[in-house]
Parts: sequence; C-alpha cells; structure tokens
Amino acid sequence: MHLFTTTAGLRCYLDRYRPGKEVALVPTMGALHPGHFSLIERARRENAIVIVSIFVNPLQFSPTEDFQQYPRQLEQDRQRCEQVGVDVIFAPTAVELYGNRLLTSDPSTQLTQVMPPATMTNVLCGRSRPGHFQGVATVVTKLLNLVQPERAYFGQKDAQQLAIIQRLVADLNLPVTIVPCPIVREESGLAYSSRNQYLTESQKAQAPVLYRALQQGQNAFHGGERDRTILIETVKSELASVRDIQVEYVELVHPTTLMPLDQVEDKGLLAIAVRFGSTRLIDNIVLQYRQPIVAIDGPAGAGKSTVTRLVAHQLGLMHLDTGAMYRAVTWRVVQAGIDWDDEPAIAELVSQCEISLSPSGSEDEAVRVWIDGEDVTQAIRSLNVTSHVSAIAALPTVRRELVKQQQRWGCKGGVVAEGRDIGTYVFPDAELKIFLTASVQERARRRQQDLKDQNQGDVSLEQLEQDIEKRDYRDSTRALAPLRKAADAIEINTDGLTIPEVTERIVTLYKQKLFS
Ligand code: PAF
Repeated sequence: MHLFTTTAGLRCYLDRYRPGKEVALVPTMGALHPGHFSLIERARRENAIVIVSIFVNPLQFSPTEDFQQYPRQLEQDRQRCEQVGVDVIFAPTAVELYGNRLLTSDPSTQLTQVMPPATMTNVLCGRSRPGHFQGVATVVTKLLNLVQPERAYFGQKDAQQLAIIQRLVADLNLPVTIVPCPIVREESGLAYSSRNQYLTESQKAQAPVLYRALQQGQNAFHGGERDRTILIETVKSELASVRDIQVEYVELVHPTTLMPLDQVEDKGLLAIAVRFGSTRLIDNIVLQYRQPIVAIDGPAGAGKSTVTRLVAHQLGLMHLDTGAMYRAVTWRVVQAGIDWDDEPAIAELVSQCEISLSPSGSEDEAVRVWIDGEDVTQAIRSLNVTSHVSAIAALPTVRRELVKQQQRWGCKGGVVAEGRDIGTYVFPDAELKIFLTASVQERARRRQQDLKDQNQGDVSLEQLEQDIEKRDYRDSTRALAPLRKAADAIEINTDGLTIPEVTERIVTLYKQKLFS
C-alpha cells in the first residue's frame, strides 16, 4: 500500500498503475470505523484500484465547530487500510490541497468554491452549519478531479451530503458514478460515526434512541401513515424518552431534492439531528413503499432464465427479462441500419429508446416486449438478433443505459430479475437474492442434452466442461458486469434438482423471508 501526502505522488502513481484499470475513491476524514470499512470493502470488490482519501477539511467546519478536536489517527487508519487491501491512502495537508487560499484575507486570492443549490444547503444540517455543504462540495470536487475515479463511495448516513454530491455530479457532468452505501450500525442500533468517540458512557447508552425513534416512524409509515406532522411527532415522542438529548431537528424531506414534504408520495427521508452535551449526532431512514424485488444471479447454464420466469409467474411478480431488453435494443440497432462497431451512434440511439415489458399471462411464454411503441416480442428472437446480441450487450454505453431503465422498474418493485450482477449492482437492496449455480459437470451434461434435443451434433462432455470453465472464468473476471455472488445471497446448487424443485425452493424462501 502507498501513502501519498502530495498531489504529485498521487498523480505519478495513477499515471503508472492506472492504465486499463478501474479506480475507486472513498473520501473520508479519517478516524475510520466499520461504516467506512463497508465502503472500502465494496469499493475493493468493484474496482481494481482503491484509493482512500483522509483529509479533515477545514472548509467544512465553522469557527465554533470541532475542527481542532476532530479525531486524527493516521497511523491506526493506515494499518487498518492495509489489512483490507486499500492500494493508496491520499492524506494531503490543507496547504497541499488549498495552497495559501484559506489563510488569505486578500480578496484577490480567494478560493474558488462550489456552490450547491441553496434549497439543498439551507435545510436540515445546513440550518445550523452555514457554509458546511459548500465546503464539502468544494473538497469533493477537488478530490474527484485529482483522482478521476470511475466510482466514488459515500455513506447514506450523511444523506444530505449524498444528495448534494449526486446533484453536483449530475449538474456538472462529472464523469464518475456515485455509489451510495447503506448505514452501518452497532448492535444497539447506533449508527457508526467518528464523533461517537466523544460520547460519555451514559450518553452512549442513550444514543440508540435515534434509531429506535426512526424505526417508530417507519412502523407508522408501514402502517399506512403518510402525513408529515404525525410521522415527525412519532419520532419526536420516542426521542423524548431519554434524558440528556437536545433535539436540533426532526424533518421529512424528499431524499433526492431535499424539499420538505407534507405527505410521503413515493419516497421520504426522515432525518434527525440531536445533541448529547456538545456532541452532535445525525441519523436517518428512507421511507419507501415498493413491492419486493427478487434478484437471481449465477453462472451460465445453471437454469436461471426458466426458473426466473416460473418464479415470477408463481409469485405474481413481473419477470424483468433483462435478456429481452438487450435483444430489443439489438433489434432497434438493426432496424436503424447502424454499423455494429459504430458505438457512438448506438449510444445515441439507445439513450433515446423506450423499452416496455408486460407479463405474458402464461408461465410457458416469455414476457411481451415493446420498443418505442412497437411490439417486438417475436422479432427479437430472430437469428440476426441472436447472433449480435452479445456484442451489443458488451458495449458499456448500452449496459449503462439499460441498467438505468431496469432500475426505474426497480423503483416500483414487484420484479424478479436474473443476470450476473443483479444482486450486487443493479438491485443491491433486493429483498431476496439467490445465487443459482451447478457443478461444471452437471451444466455440461445439460448442455449436451440440449444440443442433442436440437439435433446439433454430438459434442463430448469433456469439451463442454472445458468450454464452461472458460466461460465462467471470462464471466467472473470481465470488467463490465462481472459475475459475482452478493454477500447476502442464498446459494442454491441445482445439481440433481429439477426445474420445478428449484422454483419451489425459491418461492418458499420468498414466502419465509417476506411473510414470516
Ligand atoms: O463525509 C465525510 O467524511 C466528509 O464530509 C467528506 C465527504 C470526506 C468531505 O470532506
């Protein structure tokens, strides 16, 4: 692992080691805790190079805040980063990052700052921390420009920060994907924070009330309550059950725009800031009603597509047939007469096309597929489409666009989707994740049977096994959408099981998980 304190060292490292590799940035202020490590671990899984920045940014602290006391433990952070496989720590000084711009009272050398929309910075924590989010937006923009990562990882605990950074990246077209990561909590429910170190024992015993209060709000929401005043009052009355708390705010806003909500329509962010003595703590929960999502991933030949169709039918959910979506796009490219290797033209076309799917009504039939209003259910099964679909699906722009469309379906939920990274990337918050697999020998036997059924000659089992091993290796090592088992996926080995047996097992798991 390398530790750089200068931009020159960082730049030189990137020039030398980056070519052909994907880079992740995890921006932090150090004093790393399990919340940070969950970001780092995810970044490690999804990228070839992981860079953690450690910088206590003076620009985001007001003169009355804890900039001086903020915990600084670089050596401890360095050792733990090394243990979890971080490649680079970037820990600049304020002078390295800002030059003399912060110290100056000379207006002619003032620092350029990034100004997010006031509607996002004047609410929630922005009320008591004027200038804070401008300081965050400025340092994050600088770090993104210095590292130019493919992905940057932020925790959902700082929900306002996350929403502002997502807006910043969208509005300024910054070429990075922001990856939001779930809040990590102690067993008591208290969300990990570097500031938890400031709490006395008695305050620490009271602090789990934040999460309890948010859960009360969530229970009320799941019980059908949508009204702002009632949801906020529910949270406040639980907070009032502990002695040493001073509530700064309990708010209900839209998670993306941060605009206050009178009613929760699709989604709401219930957010809290409190003080225990001089220690300020924040926490939040997203209120969202959507139908469940089932993600089925696994290697080729494990029986995913048939099982997915049957599971969707039996559970009355929509089969989000991602394969059909790639086929529809391929059909559209053929129709438009675009050259297969003209990726910019394909990107332009795909970003404008609208795909819709609807259940066929029968468990034996695939979903019905439309593209730009035209029913292409039959047309996408043509030989021409079949022979070009893998090349089209391998284009990063096509994949990005279709994942966006799939995630729009995911907002409503009620879908079963299958692929290689559905549970890890497309729907990381799916309620049920299945990793469907089978031994190489079993998959080779099934493939041999399929070929025989289609009168396509007699290929030896040995040959088929070798092909499958090669394909598995390719699928799990490729840069785009590699095959991965989500940490919380349930593995089902289909060796010796029939399709109805596998389907039944998944349907049972779904019922146990959601209705017990
Ligand atoms: O969340 C933090 O630790 C900081 O606000 C960040 C994003 C590293 C910017 O200084």
